[in-house]
Amino acid sequence: MFTAPTDLPMPVPGAPSMSMFDPVFIGITESGHPAYLDLVYHNLLDAGEPGGGKSVLMQNLVGHAFLCHDFTPVLLDPKWVELGMWMQAAEAAGGIFVGPDIDKGLRVLRRLQKVMDRRYAWLVAHGRRKFVPGDAINVIGVFIDELAYYTATTGTPEQQKEFIALVRDLVARGRACAMPVIAATQRPSVDIIPTSLRDLFGYRAAFRCTTPNSSDIILGHGWASAGFNAQAISPQTPGVFYLIAEGGTPHLVKAAYLTDEQIHRLAHYVTWIRRHGDQVSAPLAA
Ligand SMILES: Nc1ncnc2c1ncn2[C@@H]1O[C@H](COP(=O)(O)OP(=O)(O)OP(=O)(O)O)[C@@H](O)[C@H]1O
Ligand SMILES: [Mg+2]
Repeated sequence: MFTAPTDLPMPVPGAPSMSMFDPVFIGITESGHPAYLDLVYHNLLDAGEPGGGKSVLMQNLVGHAFLCHDFTPVLLDPKWVELGMWMQAAEAAGGIFVGPDIDKGLRVLRRLQKVMDRRYAWLVAHGRRKFVPGDAINVIGVFIDELAYYTATTGTPEQQKEFIALVRDLVARGRACAMPVIAATQRPSVDIIPTSLRDLFGYRAAFRCTTPNSSDIILGHGWASAGFNAQAISPQTPGVFYLIAEGGTPHLVKAAYLTDEQIHRLAHYVTWIRRHGDQVSAPLAA
């Protein structure tokens, strides 16, 4: 869950390696406190005008996820340049990258739906309601940058409808079986994401918007007039956004920033770790 602790510094839980169940550091609040997300049990919608900082926030989340031992990546990015930086790392981690290819995107989502069904079958068989830390499963993080490309721009209307239906199913049912969805779009208006899907996202990040109405579309009706208006975010401060977490009040946050160089180094590191995992652990096991 999003936290704005009153004491500094807030310790980050440490372990031999990170887990997807650990809080994800995303930046600082306006009062200077660290802001965290609890990704596994939530879905995040990341929206706002071009250049607002949506992809930068997503890179933070992806970077954290790849450093976790229990992460399987599913990355969709029609622009290639953001999540494409993790393409090799995704392959090394047993995951997948999808570029501007709705056919492949649909195949991947249909497969994820089956995985989700099997995970629920396992939970039911074991009398459980959700996965918890320590369960021997990987968290399948589904990251979609530029969601609108698949839901409103490319493909036939039938394909777009199927894409929306599959994402909606994942967002609605994926939380308890450790399959969170993190999606970014410039404007989550009804032609891009049906309201029924938009409202399912428990976390919503509103980057700078062009109108108070756009801000309300992301955060929920009435927040702009209550003073939480993403239009008021200065264009001079990309990376600043309002974050609302299930039922709470929006908080102003400035996202952390990874440079291209840092992302490349991270991606190279996590690719190497996974490709050489056997060799690294072999001497210890002997
Ligand atoms: N948290 C941040 N700290 C510093 N600079 C940032 C931050 N977020 C964004 N920026 C700056 O703003 C630029 C645009 O950010 P980003 O690519 O994330 O926007 P976007 O919302 O994804 O845009 P688009 O809709 O066009 O994809 C970045 O290249 C960077 O220069
Ligand atoms: Mg972007």
